[in-house]
Amino acid sequence: MQPIKVRSETAEDFRAIDVVNLSAFQGEAEAQLVSELRKSDGFVPDLSLVAELNGRIVGHVVLSRVKLKSASGESDILALGPMSVVPSQSHRGIGSELINAAIARARPLCYNAIVVAGYPGYYQRFGFRPASEWGLTSNLNIPEDALTAMELKEGALAGGGEVIYPDIFKMLF
Ligand SMILES: CC(C)(COP(=O)(O)OP(=O)(O)OC[C@H]1O[C@@H](n2cnc3c(N)ncnc32)[C@H](O)[C@@H]1OP(=O)(O)O)[C@@H](O)C(=O)NCCC(=O)NCCS
Repeated sequence: MQPIKVRSETAEDFRAIDVVNLSAFQGEAEAQLVSELRKSDGFVPDLSLVAELNGRIVGHVVLSRVKLKSASGESDILALGPMSVVPSQSHRGIGSELINAAIARARPLCYNAIVVAGYPGYYQRFGFRPASEWGLTSNLNIPEDALTAMELKEGALAGGGEVIYPDIFKMLF
């Protein structure tokens, strides 16, 4: 397989990213959420990444800012998702490259942690752990074990708390 190139999205990629999301998910909700995220306060352009194979966009992941409310106050952390790989290229490590690149780019931006809602079986291999280990909950309508998290700074999640996703995520959860 040709090498995968992972880079930040540009405006020229929006249509191709829609196509990736529409092909990977059933329905339009994830593609719509990505469009809404771009207009939202929490959007971090450097953390909306595409995977290119032979010049074609075959995968996408976005990390955006969400609030963590804990006893010690409020802070910004990152939420990963949606993420998608076109079905014809899945199971070839492209999703893993996207996640590892996203984590590597998030670290120097000094956020404390990353959370993910959904698919715990997939994300744990990258170091995400059940959010319940830190007493973390969220405002999304998901089962407790569907929320996983990764500290980017050791001890950052020790105080637990509630992850407050913006309302636009409620089109999925
Ligand atoms: C999940 C997804 C992003 C993985 O991308 P990928 O490029 O296939 O991932 P990788 O090749 O790095 O890893 C593949 C492994 O992920 C795991 N995996 C894939 N989908 C999974 C899921 N829904 N739940 C749990 N594990 C999953 C499998 O263990 C798979 O291993 P295998 O190839 O030995 O079967 C891709 O399958 C996809 O777009 N799925 C539809 C959309 C989706 O569910 N997105 C994630 C939630 S936002």
